[in-house]
Amino acid sequence: MISKKSMLNSVKVLFGGILMLAGLSMLTACGSSAPDPKVLYEDKCSSCHGLGIVESSAYSSLESWQDLVDRMQEKSNSYSDAEAKTIAEYLHQNMK
Ligand code: HEC
Repeated sequence: MISKKSMLNSVKVLFGGILMLAGLSMLTACGSSAPDPKVLYEDKCSSCHGLGIVESSAYSSLESWQDLVDRMQEKSNSYSDAEAKTIAEYLHQNMK
């Protein structure tokens, strides 16, 4: 015979589990909607010239990368300001 108290406990556990699942699925939804900066860069910056031109350039500060990405954005208009920022940050962190 299940006591009232243990019923209540299993309801609590069940409810906790549902909350956790909801939290997890929200997390994965966020993860999949945020584009991978590397993929974004390779996709957006290779349509007019090779990536070698980027890799061999001498920009180093975040501002100079941002300037470059903004200049390339004016030519192509193929990525948003938010994407430009993501690409600039990626280049700043990964190119020497
Ligand atoms: C619409 C076509 C186009 C796209 C898209 C494009 N570029 Fe360019 N890019 C050019 C052209 C044309 C030149 C050469 C003329 C110039 O320098 O303005 C160039 C030159 C460059 C140069 C060398 C000249 C300089 O100013 O340092 C770099 C570095 C560069 N691009 C990086 C990028 C990056 C990073 C991206 C992606 C965010 C990108 N490009 C996207 C057209 C494009």
